[in-house]
Amino acid sequence: MRLTILGGGGFRVPLVYGALLGDRAEGRVTRVVLHDLDPARLTAVTRVLAEQAAGVPDAPEVIATTDLDEALRGADFVFSAIRVGGLQGRADDERVALAHGVLGQETVGAGGIAYGLRTVPVAVDIARRVARLAPDAWVINFTNPAGLVTEAMSRHLGERVIGICDSPVGLGRRIARVLGANPGEAWIDYVGLNHLGWVRGLRVAGRDELPRLLADPVLLGSFEEGRLFGVDWLRSLGAIPNEYLHYYYFNREAVHAYRQAEKTRGAFLLDQQAGFYERAARADGSALAAWDRTRAEREATYMAENRETAGAGEREADDLSGGYEKVALALMRAVARDERTTLILNVRNQGTLHALDADAVIEVPCLVDANGAHPVAVAPLPEHATGLVCAVKGVERVVLAAAGSGSRATAVKAFALHPLVDSVNVARRLMEDYAEVHPGLAYLR
Ligand code: G6P
Ligand code: MN
Repeated sequence: MRLTILGGGGFRVPLVYGALLGDRAEGRVTRVVLHDLDPARLTAVTRVLAEQAAGVPDAPEVIATTDLDEALRGADFVFSAIRVGGLQGRADDERVALAHGVLGQETVGAGGIAYGLRTVPVAVDIARRVARLAPDAWVINFTNPAGLVTEAMSRHLGERVIGICDSPVGLGRRIARVLGANPGEAWIDYVGLNHLGWVRGLRVAGRDELPRLLADPVLLGSFEEGRLFGVDWLRSLGAIPNEYLHYYYFNREAVHAYRQAEKTRGAFLLDQQAGFYERAARADGSALAAWDRTRAEREATYMAENRETAGAGEREADDLSGGYEKVALALMRAVARDERTTLILNVRNQGTLHALDADAVIEVPCLVDANGAHPVAVAPLPEHATGLVCAVKGVERVVLAAAGSGSRATAVKAFALHPLVDSVNVARRLMEDYAEVHPGLAYLR
C-alpha cells in the first residue's frame, strides 16, 4: 500500500510516520512518498524518519520528491497537509487582521478567509491531478481551513476526499474522561462545520451522560472547555462547543488578548520551526532529537498560550499528540481493510443538517468502511447554532466563488459577510493589505 503525503516536509509528518511504524497488520502502508516544494524541508524530515525507522523491521520505505505528478501516480492514499504561503503566510494572516482590530487567527474569521483564498486554487489543482493520475486513490485532507478546502476538492473528487481534524476527538476524549467514561466506548453526538461544532450528548451503553456533566458545576469547571467558556455559559448553551467557538462567544476578549501578545502563534512557530529545519539539516547530531525537542517546546508553549489568552488550563499530554495522526490512520485502516468504524469527519452533508444543501461539507460522526465515510443521522442543531453554521458556510461559498472567478470584489464580499468582520470598510482594507503581503492572492483582480 502506497501513501503519498503532500506537504511531506511538514513538521507533523514524523507523527504520521510514527503511527505507521506501530501498524503491524496486514494491508499496512509499505511505501511512503513525501512531496514538498522545498527540497531542504524534505531532506530534514527524511532524516528524522530514517532515525525513527532504525531497528524497526519492515519499516515503510520512504521516497521524497518535488515532482507532484510523480508523487501522485500509483498512490492508494493521499494525505494533503500543505500550507500555502508557509508559516510566514500564517503569521501575515494573523497580523494584518489584528492590525484592523478583528480576530487574527489561522482558520477563523478574516485570517481563515485569507488562508482559504490562497489555498483553494492550489487544492483544486491537486484534486484535478489526483482525478487524472490516481483516480482510485482516497484523499485525506488535513489542509486548513479543512472544511472549506475539503469542499473545494470534493467538487472534483466527490466522496473520495474526506477531511479530518483532531479537535472533535480531543474534545470528546476530555468530556469522556471528566465523566469517568472510557473514550473508546463513548458515542459522541457532535455536529457542525470544521472548528464550529457542538457536543450535544455523550452516550455510554445507550445512556446520555452529558446531562450529568452539565448539572454539576464542579465537574464542569474541572476540564478545559469548562474553564475556557465558563460553567454558566455551558449550562446556558446545554452543549459543549468546540474550543474554536471561543473566538465567536468571546470575540472581544480574544482580539484584545491577541493584540497584546508579543507574537502571534504563526510568528512564534515560524521562528521555532526555522530553528528545527536548520538543526536537522546539519550532518552532525540527531535530526530526530532536534524534532523531538522542538515538538516538546511547541506543546509547552501551546499550553501556556492557551492559559494566558483563553483562561484555559493545561492539556493532558495525550490531547496534544494523540489526535491528528491517529484519526488519519484509523480512517485509512477502515477504508483499506473494510474495518467498520465511526469517526468524526468532514464529508458532504447529504441531508444530515436540513438547513444546508447536500453538497455542503460538514463535520459529523460518520460510518466508515471500504465504501468511504457516510454521515450518521443526528438531531437538528438549535436555531442559534444553525444560524452561525449557515452564516459561515455562506462565507465559505463566497470564498469558493472568488477562488473560481478570480474576482477581488467577491473576495471582499467574503470578508464583509463574515460574522467576525464588523464593517464592509474593514473588509475592503483587509483585502488591500492581504493582497500586498500575499503573492498567492495576485490572481484576485
Ligand atoms: C489544532 C487544529 C488544527 C490547527 C492546530 C493549530 O490541531 O485542529 O486545525 O491547525 O490546532 O496548532 P498550532 O500548534 O499550529 O498552533
Ligand atoms: Mn483542525
